[in-house]
Amino acid sequence: MADGFYAMTEDSGSFTGIYSLDHPDLFHPVAQVHASELVKLAQGQLGPNDDSDLLSELEREGFLAQSSSGEPDPKIVQTLQALGAPFRWRVHPEHLPILEKVRLWHAHRKLFVFEFGQTPCLPETVLCRVQLATETLPAQAKVLLIGDDDLMCLALAEMGFEVTVVDIDPALIDFIHHRCQTDGIQVDARVQDLLQPIPEDMRGCFDLVITDPMSFEGCLIAFLSRALAMLNDEGVVWTCIHPLAHQLFSKVAQVLPIAVDGHAAYLSAYYYRRYEKNTYRSDLFRLKKTAKALPYGPEETIPFEAITEGELTATRHGYVTCHLAPKNETEQDAHPLAHLASHATLSQGEGHFHFAQTLKEGYLTGAMNPKRTQLHMQLFPFSETQEDQQSQHVLRELQVLNHKVEYIEAPFLAPPIPQIKMSNKS
Ligand SMILES: C[S@@+](CC[C@H](N)C(=O)[O-])C[C@H]1O[C@@H](n2cnc3c(N)ncnc32)[C@H](O)[C@@H]1O
Repeated sequence: MADGFYAMTEDSGSFTGIYSLDHPDLFHPVAQVHASELVKLAQGQLGPNDDSDLLSELEREGFLAQSSSGEPDPKIVQTLQALGAPFRWRVHPEHLPILEKVRLWHAHRKLFVFEFGQTPCLPETVLCRVQLATETLPAQAKVLLIGDDDLMCLALAEMGFEVTVVDIDPALIDFIHHRCQTDGIQVDARVQDLLQPIPEDMRGCFDLVITDPMSFEGCLIAFLSRALAMLNDEGVVWTCIHPLAHQLFSKVAQVLPIAVDGHAAYLSAYYYRRYEKNTYRSDLFRLKKTAKALPYGPEETIPFEAITEGELTATRHGYVTCHLAPKNETEQDAHPLAHLASHATLSQGEGHFHFAQTLKEGYLTGAMNPKRTQLHMQLFPFSETQEDQQSQHVLRELQVLNHKVEYIEAPFLAPPIPQIKMSNKS
């Protein structure tokens, strides 16, 4: 695919097609029957010389690269570099060559799959995690990744670990196999739905299991049950928790056989599909297994609803929700938050309107739904009084308030948990 273009696929087919980094409004739809060819093309596994109906169509439209050199897309490399620049200081200088490699791997995969909750972490975060692994684990330790849209498996294998990855996404696993073959890397990568019983050869055998579920109660319990079942008795699990979800995590910790063994605050930063900045951050927790029984045994099937019910906001932690009166349909404003443009960054994705404002300490982010009836705001790091002040300030400035605010909720945060330093060699 030509430089600066990338693909998205999803079940319903309405977003399946080609997008452009340079022209955010460009969308070239691709029929669902060609979705698997599009995936291969976006991941560099289909070249202009292959015989395919899709390729002929895309060639006519100018979406195909002139040569099939197999080079990573320079525009995407640049975009990822810019997104990661604020976090680069966390990468040890001796690991910079591997950081470059991780970025190139990410730039080779010009694909976003709408389903599966994929939000890759930035290459700089991948390196932070890999560094932590090299500092705290014996060489050649057996590492399992449950879900790896971050492509951390490739970097860990390069560092000498024996790596296994399971993911529900066949396109991702295919890409990992392809990269392993091209770059001479050894990873055991398997398509596997973690809701299904765990294969016997994977139970109780890993020194480290890494999993980063969404910070919802059911999702954490399901992913962590699986991680613990695959861990050996001396092993550790690393999981990632949204900094505002510690209260929720304390609740989850009561039903799981775990003891918190270490905590690294704000370790992970992510990017969103379309290579957009993502303000989501997470803390890394190191967990040890205790003797208590697992909520889901390894032979049990976990119901799908267990990982989809509940949401982060349900934990009431410093999240302002404004319910706005319905929009006056005759109004023709381009971006309903445009009045914030002088001191905030505005963007739009999948119909939602977003803003992000850098404050003296931290930042405020917000999103308005496509119907313009709800506005959510969140302040990082959380401060109850500041959040109230800041959100009131934003609300005053919003011309959108000819839609009146009907209700504002500014709930509280659980007491912060103490910062625990990761100790060396577990
Ligand atoms: C675990 S999450 C978040 C990973 C995150 N980017 C990180 O920082 O570690 C998403 C990953 O899990 C995978 N995934 C989602 N549902 C899954 C399931 N039921 N079984 C196995 N993998 C799943 C997704 O395809 C994706 O690669």
